[in-house]
Amino acid sequence: MKILLGITGGIAAYKSLELTRLFIKAGHQVQVVMTAGAKAFIQPLSFQALSGSPVRDSLFDCHQEAGMGHIELARWADQIVIAPTSAETLAKLRIGRADNLLTTLCLATDKPIMVVPAMNHLMWFNEATQENIQVLKQRGFEVLEPAVGEQACGEVGAGRMLEPVAIFEQVMQAQKQRLQWEQDVLQGGAFWQGKSVLITAGPTFEDIDPVRFIGNRSSGKMGFALAEAAQKMGAKVTLVAGPVQISSPPCVKRVDVRSADQMFHAVQEHYKDNDFFISAAAVADFKVVHKSIQKLKKQAKEDILSLSLVKNVDIIAWVAEQPKRPVVIGFAAETEHVLGYAKAKLKQKKLDAIIANEVGEGAKGFESDQNSVTLITKDSFFSFDEGSKKRLGFQLLNAIASLNLRSGCVESI
Ligand code: PMT
Repeated sequence: MKILLGITGGIAAYKSLELTRLFIKAGHQVQVVMTAGAKAFIQPLSFQALSGSPVRDSLFDCHQEAGMGHIELARWADQIVIAPTSAETLAKLRIGRADNLLTTLCLATDKPIMVVPAMNHLMWFNEATQENIQVLKQRGFEVLEPAVGEQACGEVGAGRMLEPVAIFEQVMQAQKQRLQWEQDVLQGGAFWQGKSVLITAGPTFEDIDPVRFIGNRSSGKMGFALAEAAQKMGAKVTLVAGPVQISSPPCVKRVDVRSADQMFHAVQEHYKDNDFFISAAAVADFKVVHKSIQKLKKQAKEDILSLSLVKNVDIIAWVAEQPKRPVVIGFAAETEHVLGYAKAKLKQKKLDAIIANEVGEGAKGFESDQNSVTLITKDSFFSFDEGSKKRLGFQLLNAIASLNLRSGCVESI
């Protein structure tokens, strides 16, 4: 792998010598690019000795450009790793500055960029830094969050750069996952290129009063994994997300909702513009009949509070019965008789396919990064071994592609 290792200003720059050594020892090529701030902490010669290549540090040095210009350098890399990444560089990356060689390379590349922040803990938690991080994550930057520990300034807290071996392992893992995804994308062929996919994910919260609500354990990971896979396979993705704590996959249109009613309205607004609708959201089946505008007071004499609930719209069933509709694929979250109940839902809701997964005690469905699922149609099914939801996202889409699904009917191959 060809690694472009960016070094920015920070005392942690000395650790990147070891990181360089690890990459070289593992047989990878390393081109180090240093900012002026980095050179204030460590000599370029140290990196040149370890990497075997002259360190690049200037955007306008004609001698350096004669070898490999900054644009070629941006193309040369398979992976850009910036370790340490200062708060200043995070801010520059966020607004797209190109005022030094490293930030220019990051603007000129289409290769993956991994940032490894290192700074004082108050700087790390500063609202501006945290906002920069969130924006970069949404653009597809991989962020290796800093560790907590003693800092050069003597204070203790989050902001300490990860140890070189941990960074090395995460870079290798990211490359392995990318290669896997590339294989999955190739396997799926061009089926998803240009398709439009509407996906729901996460829970819905049904408010009881301004303080309390009825929710569930969905984290959104399964739906977000499908959205990320679909986008990487060339689809145009609209993701309707209930209240979740995870970042959007890059280049996905996200619509945030809270209640089942709000999710229903969002789906009604978008379903007609889509070729596929995949409902991975854990939509509440019921909502309270009377949502209180004031916090319900505890009545001293009563030990039991009764709530009257009324059914929510079955969103996926509603889409499935629309005359002009996308291919409709649901999920079945079951604690027992998983395949049997899933097949029943497939029929009862008139879906084109359903993805069965087990939830409850000891099961992986909710919250976990892993899952095991079975894709079922009226006359076929694909079982997948337990795996990461991110990988299953690709595998499910490849299986769906092979089914030649058309709205309202299935011609399984
Ligand atoms: O989000 P994670 O933590 O990653 O967990 C993933 C998951 C377990 C939530 C996901 O894999 C999953 O199973 N999602 C569907 C959960 C669910 O509501 O299943 P269900 O069997 O109750 O509903 C069947 C189908 O009807 C689902 O596609 C659901 O989105 C849909 N539905 C349900 C109720 C409702 N009012 N409207 C709906 O559209």
